[in-house]
Amino acid sequence: MRIVSGIQPTGNLHLGNYLGAIRNWVRMQDEAQASGGESLYFLADLHAISQPHAPAQLAANTREMVAALLACGIDPAKSVLFNQAQVPQHAELQWLLSGTARMGWLNRMTQWKDKAGKNREGQSVALFTYPVLQAADVLLYQATHVPVGDDQKQHLELARDIAQKFNNDFASADKPVFTLPEPIIPPEAARIMSLRDGTAKMSKSDPSDMSRINLTDDADTIMAKVKKAKTDPEPLPGEKAGLEGRAEASNLVGIYAAMAGSSVEAVLGEFGGAGFGKFKPALGELLVTKLAPINRRFVALCTDQPALDAVLRAGATRARELAKPTLDATYAALGLLRG
Ligand code: TRP
Repeated sequence: MRIVSGIQPTGNLHLGNYLGAIRNWVRMQDEAQASGGESLYFLADLHAISQPHAPAQLAANTREMVAALLACGIDPAKSVLFNQAQVPQHAELQWLLSGTARMGWLNRMTQWKDKAGKNREGQSVALFTYPVLQAADVLLYQATHVPVGDDQKQHLELARDIAQKFNNDFASADKPVFTLPEPIIPPEAARIMSLRDGTAKMSKSDPSDMSRINLTDDADTIMAKVKKAKTDPEPLPGEKAGLEGRAEASNLVGIYAAMAGSSVEAVLGEFGGAGFGKFKPALGELLVTKLAPINRRFVALCTDQPALDAVLRAGATRARELAKPTLDATYAALGLLRG
């Protein structure tokens, strides 16, 4: 089991990032350990330059994201934790794979279509080839399992297509260069929605801070945000079917279930028939209890920049070692002489 995943250093981490991705990383880190496997997690800072960005902000966001990952339970003694920019093999392999990836494949990527919109000509080349770098990220380490959100499934399929075509074109059947990675999409990464609009994803770019729970929020702020969360006037139903058409109620119950490590059915078994006057304080307290230790660690880590940089440096050293055999095999398979 070789687990590899990345996250863009966006800054301003919120509950959606935690429940959607990071918590699952922690779980898989521990599974990999238990089974004698290995997990690698990285900040996708090279991906971040595919769109307009402020350099100082990117550096700050990268450090903030490492602090958040550590605070949430990623343990450098168990996982290799690094940023792409310190492992040049990611960019190298991307170029080598660019000879295999097809324009037509990239043109079909929904993230490219969504982000480029009507202005394709005005986008960076990096935004278009973004999925090739993502393929390099995982193929470089012979990843077997890649925990991602639902929106990244298509990029993982592309990585498999690239790996397969490369193996077909340049390797013998009994000695493939690349492993085909499997996307792992956790069921409860079911979307965490805005507290103000149950049909919009919880997002750091929502202008209303009341729409999300940030990892930096203190207990009072969390309680206030949950209290103000949009709901409807009906009490909670006793069964899951009763949540249909009630986006806000459904979101809050989903958050409760995810945080409590239980199921929507179990939460409704407990709170069915209760109004939000009763449910909201319970949800607020659950969030405060679970997030307080993370928040405390996060705030402390953010003040120790040398420690964060040391974690990234050590992780990158290990990542470069792990990357070497696959990159060497790739150059050799392509007939590229290197002395
Ligand atoms: N594109 C991913 C996202 O936006 C981040 C990412 C970059 C990634 N490289 C990866 C995820 C490799 C999994 C594996 O969420």
